[in-house]
Amino acid sequence: MQQDLFAANTREQADHTDWRERAAWLATEINRHNHAYYVLDAPTIPDAEYDRLFGELLALEAAHSELVTPASPTQRVGAAPLAEFAQITHSVPMLSLANAFGDDDVIAFDRRAGEGLQLELVEYNAELKFDGLAINLRYEDGILMQAATRGDGETGEDVTANIRTVRAIPLRLSTAHPPKVLEVRGEVLMFRADFDRMNARQREAGQKEFANPRNAAAGSLRQLDPRITAQRPLRFFAYGIGALEGVDTPQTHAGMLDWFASLGIPVCSERAVVPGAEGLLEFFRQIGAKRDRLPYDIDGVVYKVNSLAQQQALGFVTRAPRFAIAHKFPAQEALTVVQDIEVQVGRTGAITPVARLAPVFVGGVTVTNATLHNEDEIRRKDIRIGDTVIVRRAGDVIPEVVAHVPEMRPQDAREFSMPSVCPVCGSPIVKPEDEAIARCSGGWVRCAAQRKAGLQHFASRKAMDIEGLGDQLIEQLVDKNLVATAADLYRLELPALAGLDRMADKSAQNVLNALEQSKSTTLARFLYSLGIRHVGESTAKTLASHFGRLEALTKATVEELQTVPDVGPVVAQSIRQYLSDPLSLSMIEQLRSAGIVWAEGEPVFASPQPLQGKTFVLTGALPTLTREHATEMIETAGGKVAGSVSKKTHFVVSGHEAGSKLAKAQALGITILDEAAFLELLKQS
Ligand code: IVH
Repeated sequence: MQQDLFAANTREQADHTDWRERAAWLATEINRHNHAYYVLDAPTIPDAEYDRLFGELLALEAAHSELVTPASPTQRVGAAPLAEFAQITHSVPMLSLANAFGDDDVIAFDRRAGEGLQLELVEYNAELKFDGLAINLRYEDGILMQAATRGDGETGEDVTANIRTVRAIPLRLSTAHPPKVLEVRGEVLMFRADFDRMNARQREAGQKEFANPRNAAAGSLRQLDPRITAQRPLRFFAYGIGALEGVDTPQTHAGMLDWFASLGIPVCSERAVVPGAEGLLEFFRQIGAKRDRLPYDIDGVVYKVNSLAQQQALGFVTRAPRFAIAHKFPAQEALTVVQDIEVQVGRTGAITPVARLAPVFVGGVTVTNATLHNEDEIRRKDIRIGDTVIVRRAGDVIPEVVAHVPEMRPQDAREFSMPSVCPVCGSPIVKPEDEAIARCSGGWVRCAAQRKAGLQHFASRKAMDIEGLGDQLIEQLVDKNLVATAADLYRLELPALAGLDRMADKSAQNVLNALEQSKSTTLARFLYSLGIRHVGESTAKTLASHFGRLEALTKATVEELQTVPDVGPVVAQSIRQYLSDPLSLSMIEQLRSAGIVWAEGEPVFASPQPLQGKTFVLTGALPTLTREHATEMIETAGGKVAGSVSKKTHFVVSGHEAGSKLAKAQALGITILDEAAFLELLKQS
């Protein structure tokens, strides 16, 4: 049947050279699409078409077994399980890196390199420190022959069968003149989005979830059954070289990485050649700022002397090179003990269990509390009071408990049970059958915790942005019954405020000024600040630009609300319910009479927004616009702003010192605009 398919798709093919040619062509095509998808992140054909090519090659190989070679893309599906991994002695040892934990360590590293080389200024290649697993890939005459883990640096495990399943890794180098031997070193890792999807699949199948992408990558690679590895979304980035025979060694580390890329080996584009310690520290700052937006985890950056001759001259101390160092970010994960589990009441009454932890330094701060999300999550992760747990704090994200360490569970570890009444107001806690979240049924009228959380949300930066009105102040205002609703905030007077703990006349006056200033706002901010369930910042913006005027929104039916982009039945119902509640309407009225104003726009209703469906990527510094301002302009016109360039990007707005995003956009042929062209586009549309 597949043979019929093949016959239908090709010209008349009688002799064996045609079969061979067709198979070779199919293999090249499939490899090209794999590379586009897994390395360039820019898919070239639909999945179905890929599957068709793949099926055709499989059928050909089934009919002509001599076509099956180790480099054929069909060999990635996973060979038979192994009893154990064979040991492999590395032809060139795989070393590790010394660590730098602060600027001083980096400056000292640069000074030592300069002294060793007798140079005023050393040139470095700065790159990322990927959080995965080190691998050595051995290509002989351009064909992947062997892959080994680092092991103890001298001897590793033979994971060739597993590595073959990793589609980002070429089975054959794309060059007509491959070196006799090339050993590429790099990191096998898992992208965060792939990890999330994989864990969701594991969960559905009732199988063990992984704690983080690194463990998932390591676990997947150390599978004895390559068919399981083949199901796991592994990636690879090259960062070094082992044995090399048959071609001249490149001159620089950066040149070597470029050469790898030209051979079809994945190399990360987040890298730069920089001068001296100052260049290194600037790279560290830039990467630190975008770390959370990278699609994979990194635990630092790595600096390497760029000239390979200079690297040789500097040599090694014990097991680490003198020419390279890892500059680590503060660890984002740490171990600590759960001392208790308590519950917190949110703005909509949502009850969140929170782990009270023995203080632990993680992600650059001391953490004592971490969210456990909800009861189901606690059961799923089987977290008990007394457990030793992995706590994670990434960037500005709220710290969370990732997993418990089974071997460290004490005998008397206690399970958590959800209280039946709200710990703050005593109202019953209810949990609808089909929801994961339990809620306090008191509402803000009865529950002070809901009032406080609602006010904190109202005052927050993305809502009414009332500077100085922090959590502790709100706490006091509610506890002392000075404020119950957002409208009460605007009735506050100086003596009452100044009489509170940690407040003086000046700070009280500042709060009053901030309240006054917050009165002129936008409809989007106002809607967001109301804290309507399911109406986040982005939905609030869409509602504001769709309806233009608050009155139009207030009158909208559930059906009308659902014509707004991204508003489904649940969100529409929630908005309608909020705006039909006399209490909410009276509060909105009170806020408006307190003087809150915004410019009412023209309702756009169903008329399409000019940049609807268009995705922009911003890179580099624009001459006059800030990134936030440009983003707001794009979003107001209905467009979206993405963090990275892909084939789906429509425009790249590029400014001063644009980096790899610009290069990628050029490679993909995406329209690139400078600020003037961008403003012109907005004006025209
Ligand atoms: S170079 C001789 N570069 O970090 C230098 N290593 O402690 C050998 N790693 O085992 C390593 N990203 O798993 C190098 N860009 C990078 C890296 C990197 C991650 C890991 C690697 C190695 C460990 C070194």
